[in-house]
Amino acid sequence: MLSCILRGESRCRAAAQKMWEGRTGLRGKVNTMGKIILTGDRPTGRLHVGHYVGSLRRRVELQDSGEYEKIFIMIADAQALTDNIENPEKVRQNIIEVALDYMSCGLDPAKSTLFIQSQIPELCELTFYYMDLVTVARLQRNPTVKSEIQARNFEASIPVGFFTYPISQAADITAFKADTVPVGDDQLPMIEQTREIVHKFNTVYAPVLVEPTALLPENEACKRLPGTDGKAKMSKSLGNCIYLADTADEVRTKVMSMFTDPLHLQVSDPGHLEGNTVFTYLDAFCKQEHFDRYLPDYGNLEELKAHYQRGGLGDVKVKKFLNNIMQETLEPIRARRKELERDIPAVYQVLKKGSEAAREVATRTLSEVKSAMRIHYFEDEELIRMQAERYEA
Ligand code: TRP
Repeated sequence: MLSCILRGESRCRAAAQKMWEGRTGLRGKVNTMGKIILTGDRPTGRLHVGHYVGSLRRRVELQDSGEYEKIFIMIADAQALTDNIENPEKVRQNIIEVALDYMSCGLDPAKSTLFIQSQIPELCELTFYYMDLVTVARLQRNPTVKSEIQARNFEASIPVGFFTYPISQAADITAFKADTVPVGDDQLPMIEQTREIVHKFNTVYAPVLVEPTALLPENEACKRLPGTDGKAKMSKSLGNCIYLADTADEVRTKVMSMFTDPLHLQVSDPGHLEGNTVFTYLDAFCKQEHFDRYLPDYGNLEELKAHYQRGGLGDVKVKKFLNNIMQETLEPIRARRKELERDIPAVYQVLKKGSEAAREVATRTLSEVKSAMRIHYFEDEELIRMQAERYEA
């Protein structure tokens, strides 16, 4: 062993790899026994129907499919602080809103681990080491970071924490060895960057981390559900969101005043589907069975669209159909939320339990990471013996 040190690095590293493999029972390949999901949201407001079709609905399906060994759903408060430092109270207040929205949509703490990012300090430690694996230029090329910097007028004063949040997101994902990350397509650059970090880490150190894959929403409408005013993005400040917690009346009013086709003035006029918010929402929400229940004159969405384009189908009729679908979809969510709101301390308790469970997993990964990096000095008897031998000689 002494001669190994003197002769150079590479054989030593091979020996270390062997030792590590022996200790962990992993050989060459990373341990991916069961499929693992991690995903989450920044707690900056109540969740809206865009979150629902873009991700929440799918998460519940995946949860109930039984195909996943573990599902981690994270409230990303630390990430939210990276661009809300003027308003930390907003983040603090919205943790419970997001938790209520999660659980009312059907995320079940008995099946999915719901937790708060800031309660897992191991994520910071992982982030710190991953920072060495990423260049400033690479972060500057991240298209989501780029457009967010523009949107927030950060050009001249980007907070370092904000700039580096893709690295902390890599820590979020890898800490749980997630292989599947259900997200909207604005998050694809984050997954790509995570994969690069994983690859680099596994190459430089040892194959400990898992390369994740994004799981995208099912269609274009679900990927980017527009606001009720037809604007590309739903946002609180534009007042164009339908929230999961909206009352039945609020939902109806919002649906009935939705942006449609400005050229469709009379019922008999031919209508256009592109940019027509009501039809985009139908693409996202409408299922075959809704026709049987609410609009039996039409066989399916294609027939309805064709009639609209031909002319002779009024906006109000389509909006009423959409309203029925939205009410049917949102009613059970609203009812569950009401129930959950009656015991808020219990919801915090769910998050506490979830955070404890998540922390155990992250701690295990961090310990593997540190062993792979060979910075687990005090457990490294080999190192201590070798150093001692060197001084004996
Ligand atoms: N960036 C995500 C968002 O803005 C939230 C998030 C933080 C996340 N860490 C994550 C999503 C890890 C998926 C995986 O909504």
